[in-house]
Amino acid sequence: MGKENNIVDLALLEPIFSEFEGDEHALVTILQRSQEIYGYLPQEVIYRIAERMGVSPAKVMGVATFYSQFRLKPVGKNLIMLCKGTACHVNGADSIANALKEELGIGDGETTEDGLFSIKEVACLGCCSLSPVMMVNGTAYGSLTAEKAKEIVRRIAAEGAAS
Ligand code: FES
Repeated sequence: MGKENNIVDLALLEPIFSEFEGDEHALVTILQRSQEIYGYLPQEVIYRIAERMGVSPAKVMGVATFYSQFRLKPVGKNLIMLCKGTACHVNGADSIANALKEELGIGDGETTEDGLFSIKEVACLGCCSLSPVMMVNGTAYGSLTAEKAKEIVRRIAAEGAAS
């Protein structure tokens, strides 16, 4: 079966199926548990869940894309949550998004090729007085400027390289 790396071990899903067998209403829970295992929801996993739950892949995809908690692509080592709430939007979240795009070459929902960073745009992070804000691995960085945002990701990349 294909490449040696990158193989998604579908056997890891079995305990979830034994727990929720036949319970179509558990789809969200099953997807959550699957994402905990793989870090995201690979396509093979979506298909296997559909097969085992007796529903169409389209239905599973529908649920997976409806809830923003689900990721359909692998997430990078560092997750940047860029606030696109109203206050941040008004105070220049778009220019931060552009700066990150320039620095990392990725936009919302994407991961850098080296797997170091992913960006996810989110609604209000709850610290609007610091807008515009981004959160990296749970730490909020506020009053951002394009240059400051770039410096932060450079520093995190350098720290990652050092460790
Ligand atoms: S709108 Fe960005 S933190 Fe509230």
